[in-house]
Amino acid sequence: QAFFKPIQNAAPPSSTKRHTKISVVGVGNVGMAIAQTILTQDLADELALVDAKADKLRGEMLDLQHAAAFLPRTKIQASLDYSITSGSDLCIITAGVRQNPGETRLNLLERNLALFRNIVPPLVKYSPDSILLVVSNPVDVLTYVAWKLSGFPPNRVIGSGTNLDSSRFRFLIADHLDVNAQDVQAYIVGEHGDSSVALWSSISVGGVPVLSFLKRQQIAYEKETLENIHKEVVQSAYEVINLKGYTSWAIGYSVASLARTILRDQRRVHPVSVLAKGFYEIEGGDVFLSLPAQLGRSGVLGVTNVHLTDEEAGQLKDSAKTILEVQSQLKI
Ligand code: NAI
Ligand code: 2OP
Repeated sequence: QAFFKPIQNAAPPSSTKRHTKISVVGVGNVGMAIAQTILTQDLADELALVDAKADKLRGEMLDLQHAAAFLPRTKIQASLDYSITSGSDLCIITAGVRQNPGETRLNLLERNLALFRNIVPPLVKYSPDSILLVVSNPVDVLTYVAWKLSGFPPNRVIGSGTNLDSSRFRFLIADHLDVNAQDVQAYIVGEHGDSSVALWSSISVGGVPVLSFLKRQQIAYEKETLENIHKEVVQSAYEVINLKGYTSWAIGYSVASLARTILRDQRRVHPVSVLAKGFYEIEGGDVFLSLPAQLGRSGVLGVTNVHLTDEEAGQLKDSAKTILEVQSQLKI
């Protein structure tokens, strides 16, 4: 006997509401921060988790399932087998090694490239229409690798990129000016890493362009302060890794914000890693790096035309060169 007595002559369920499925590969610090943010923000009807460690995977799945009474209803499953990811709308890859204190992101490439060869093909096989969102480091080069291994069109392969660095940047500017970080519009672009570029010329607070305001008011242009803020952004991850061993909460929120924009077709602009060739005079090869991109249900919709000063444009080209140099040594 069923728990509920069915209604007589009921109409079949309406199919107007889209069923949304997200898969997360890698249930370490980053994968779990993303998973839990996705759950609390009610972004998916189904969440599939994959990892290479069976016990850790089952333990994490059970621990999340046990929060069912406090969360929106989401079907949570986990398996070593990628068939569990079948029919995903969004596949998020966080598997792989992370930096030891003082180590650069680019240093992780060879180890994580080997893993990607086993991760990307089964994701593509089971979710051929999905959007791939790469988080593992070095994220720009691995997004290029995922694009190559997947055969997907470039709009459906995205790296979390400098969406996180830009949040750190907005936090530090907000702290400096004593305003709310959500009122600060500011972008870090380029490599998610040491060669990232701060777009000072386009920063605004509450709609007021900051640099031209300072100049108009003849307030001394504190170039050194600005440079120190960017240095602090670049040092952020190193500092957190030195202190707690890894970074997790901010990347969790950063990726959940991308998932929301993509799956709910919000068409918001995020600085994320996209195929950058041809934008902002970036030439020389297929390079993925972060640019302010408009995202929606089909992935990358376009790249915005932010005005760059000559200095910023030069730094962006240098950042592309850094990534391309690493990429040129790859055998995919
Ligand atoms: P972690 O060591 O806590 O977790 C990594 C997970 O990957 C482990 O559970 C491991 O079992 C799993 N894994 C390893 N090989 C696998 C395979 N072949 N298939 C499936 N799963 C596999 O590391 P954490 O802290 O979660 O970092 C993960 C990655 O995310 C690192 O590469 C790190 O650098 C990167 N990261 C990127 C950020 C970004 O802004 N793009 C921010 C923070 C971390
Ligand atoms: C971060 O920036 C380590 O890429 C990682 O938090």
